[in-house]
Amino acid sequence: MNLPVLLRTARTRIRLPESSDAVKLQRFRVDNRAHLAPWEPLREDSYYTLEHCAQAIADGQEAARLDRGYPFVVFDPAEENILASFTLANVVRGPFQACLLGYGTAASQQGRGLMHEALEAGLSWAFGELGLHRVMANYLPRNERSARLLERLGFEREGHARDYLRIAGRWEDHVLTAKIRVDD
Ligand SMILES: CC(C)(COP(=O)(O)OP(=O)(O)OC[C@H]1O[C@@H](n2cnc3c(N)ncnc32)[C@H](O)[C@@H]1OP(=O)(O)O)[C@@H](O)C(=O)NCCC(=O)NCCS
Repeated sequence: MNLPVLLRTARTRIRLPESSDAVKLQRFRVDNRAHLAPWEPLREDSYYTLEHCAQAIADGQEAARLDRGYPFVVFDPAEENILASFTLANVVRGPFQACLLGYGTAASQQGRGLMHEALEAGLSWAFGELGLHRVMANYLPRNERSARLLERLGFEREGHARDYLRIAGRWEDHVLTAKIRVDD
């Protein structure tokens, strides 16, 4: 894998964060704490500290170097603010060639088509340069925005998993979806 990766879209620049982005990542986490909390695992207070953000960035760089996961951040074109983030996690090679996708848009940026724009670029990279065959994304049945987003991106529903992930402190059922590369 050729690192670093920079993806450009009409309204964004998308890349793995570097150590110099720690303050921006912290601002994104703090500003969106209440917005993202219902859809994520419980976070310790330490998750919102600069130290934790710096460590997460270092861990993300290492995960990418090892081809295990790619935690992208979505910047505005001037790279002043993080507008959203998405992660291609749990990359598995061999006969599977798959990963799990997770994502979130800043509360202030929702409803503008930004995540769709960013994920179109991210998926094209995942199926192209990264060479994956399958990207899986799973959502809480009540997360209608996420369901609409995945459908527009061409994800297909594959099933319903009971007590699939522990979200906001509770085991929650999830709808399982996937998008498959069509040309192989
Ligand atoms: C789910 C989530 C990522 C969607 O983010 P988003 O940036 O608003 O998503 P989109 O890019 O799909 O934006 C689409 C919305 O903008 C509207 N829109 C406005 N301009 C648009 C444009 N140019 N292109 C596409 N959609 C546009 C769409 O109609 C759509 O509205 P809808 O959500 O009522 O269907 C966001 O709500 C979020 O972060 N939620 C909390 C975290 C979360 O749920 N994560 C996923 C866990 S599975």
